Amino acid sequence: MTAQLIKGTEIREQILDEIEKEVKEIKEKHNVVPGLVTILVGENPASVSYVSLKVKTAERLGYKEIQDNQPEDISEEDLLALIDKYNKDDSIHGILVQLPLPDHIDDKKILNAIDPDKDVDGFHPVNVGRLMIGGSEVKFPPCTPAGIQEMIVRAGVETSGAEVVVVGRSNIVGKPIAIMMCQKGKGANSTVTIVHTRTKDLEGHCKRADILIVAAGVPGLVKPEWIKKGACVIDVGVNRVGEKISEKTGKKVAILRGDVDFDAAKEIAGYITPVPGGVGPMTITMLMRNTLNSLKFRQGLM
Ligand code: GUN
Repeated sequence: MTAQLIKGTEIREQILDEIEKEVKEIKEKHNVVPGLVTILVGENPASVSYVSLKVKTAERLGYKEIQDNQPEDISEEDLLALIDKYNKDDSIHGILVQLPLPDHIDDKKILNAIDPDKDVDGFHPVNVGRLMIGGSEVKFPPCTPAGIQEMIVRAGVETSGAEVVVVGRSNIVGKPIAIMMCQKGKGANSTVTIVHTRTKDLEGHCKRADILIVAAGVPGLVKPEWIKKGACVIDVGVNRVGEKISEKTGKKVAILRGDVDFDAAKEIAGYITPVPGGVGPMTITMLMRNTLNSLKFRQGLM
C-alpha cells in the first residue's frame, strides 16, 4: 500500500482562497482590512526569507502589511517602545516579532509585551493559557500546531478516540499540539502521549500510534518499522542535510529531510506529509487566519 499524501501546498491554496474571499466581504461591508506588522531585527538569512514569505502572503490576501526592519543592535527598550506603538495602533490586528532575537534582547520580555489580543503567533502566556482551557477561550492557536490539526481534519482522518503520539516537547509544536489533540471538539478528542529524549521505549510508543506527530528536529529519527500499518504520519521536521543545485533555477538550495524516512514510511502509513511541502506551508497560512480572526474578534464578527 502507498500512503495518501497530505500536501500542505494544496491545503494552503484552499485556505488562502477562503481567507481572500472573507477579506473581500469584510472590506465591502465594514471598510476594514486585517493589518499585520512583522518586526525583523537584524538580517538572519532564514528569518529574512520567512518574513518575506509572510509579507508576500499578506499582500496577496489584501491585508495592510507593515514590514518593520530594525538594526541588529536595537536596544531592548527601543524594541519595547515599538511594540507599544503597534499595540496602540487600531489599524494593526496582528504583531509578529520574528524569532530568534539577538542575544542582548530577552525574547520572553518582548513576547510578553505584545497585546495578547494582537498576538497572532499565540506565544503570549495569556494565549498559552487560553489554549490550555480550550473551546471558545482559544483565540490564537500557535500556527504550526493549528496547521497540523487542519491537515488532519481536511485529510478526513478520524481523531476521536485515536491514539496520538507526539514526538517532541517544544513550546512551539510538541506541547501545544498535544493539548489541542486531547481537547473536546472537532479534529481532537484523542488519547495523547508525549515522548521525548528521556522516554524509555520510544519505539514501543510510536508503534501504538494511530496518528504519529514527529517534531524532534532529528533527521530520520522515526524508523519505518516503528509505524503502525495505516497510521497517519505528520512529519514536522525540516532538517538541512546538505546542498544541491536546483534544476529549475541553477542556484544552490538546501537539501531538506524530515524526522521520518519518507520513502520507506509511505509504504506502511495510511496518510503521510512530505518534506518539503507538508507541514511547512501551513504555518504562514495559519498566521494569516489568526490575523483575520483578530480583526473579526475586534469587529464583533466572531
Ligand atoms: N521563527 C521561526 N518560526 C517562527 C514563528 O512561527 N514565529 C515567529 N515569531 N518567529 C519564528
